[in-house]
Amino acid sequence: MALLNTRRNFIANTGKAGAGLWIGSTLLSSCSVSKKSSSNKLSTGFQQQPLPYSYSALNEAIDGTTMEIHYTKHAASYASNLQDAAKNEGVDMNKPLEEVLNRISKYSTKMRNNGGGHYNHELFWKSMSPSGPEKPSGKLSTAIDESFGSFEAFKTQYSDAGKNRFGSGWAWLIIDKDKRLRIGSTPNQDNPLMDVAETKGFPLLGLDVWEHAYYLRYQNKRADYITNWWKVVNWNFIQDRYQAAYS
Ligand SMILES: [Fe+2]
Repeated sequence: MALLNTRRNFIANTGKAGAGLWIGSTLLSSCSVSKKSSSNKLSTGFQQQPLPYSYSALNEAIDGTTMEIHYTKHAASYASNLQDAAKNEGVDMNKPLEEVLNRISKYSTKMRNNGGGHYNHELFWKSMSPSGPEKPSGKLSTAIDESFGSFEAFKTQYSDAGKNRFGSGWAWLIIDKDKRLRIGSTPNQDNPLMDVAETKGFPLLGLDVWEHAYYLRYQNKRADYITNWWKVVNWNFIQDRYQAAYS
């Protein structure tokens, strides 16, 4: 229950005006983070946050063993290595991680891999839920229809971004500096906040297509993993994130 309350509070906080201002500032200043961002609930810290559900809660799409290893080993390691890199490179860990990601080319490869890895997984856990609507509604639904033609067309394009990512990486739905929705993908643990990213913007939804995310149940069948993953996307969270980013 405590975890669920944490999740509700997080989602509720994403609707605050300050969040929108920060995101708007981020988008309008080429993804640079304003000095006010340290108090923003949409920003990401350097510590791993509690998983907002049990390891087996998403079994419809991802088995509990995979979730447990993914969260306690892979993601925990990114957080630990990020903190190590931050100490070595003089980064103030009281500031948002986004400030580092926006200027990742100025830091080490260790910071890039683990800063991205930590940020991406923190978003990934919150982007899934064992319950909730099967598709977006409201302003996000309208924006998806306008940008991609339909929700089904969006799913196909996004799924293709994940299927076609060679090796390990992520598929993304982002809002860019012109407040347009775009689909992209990044290799390894890169993400669209990074100054080195091919497609830059604010990430609304990320899909982990590293084999560690699906191999126990799906083996080499990444496409089957992606098909089932849609069943557990937390559209309430993504909608709140979009509306905060758009304001
Ligand atoms: Fe992962």
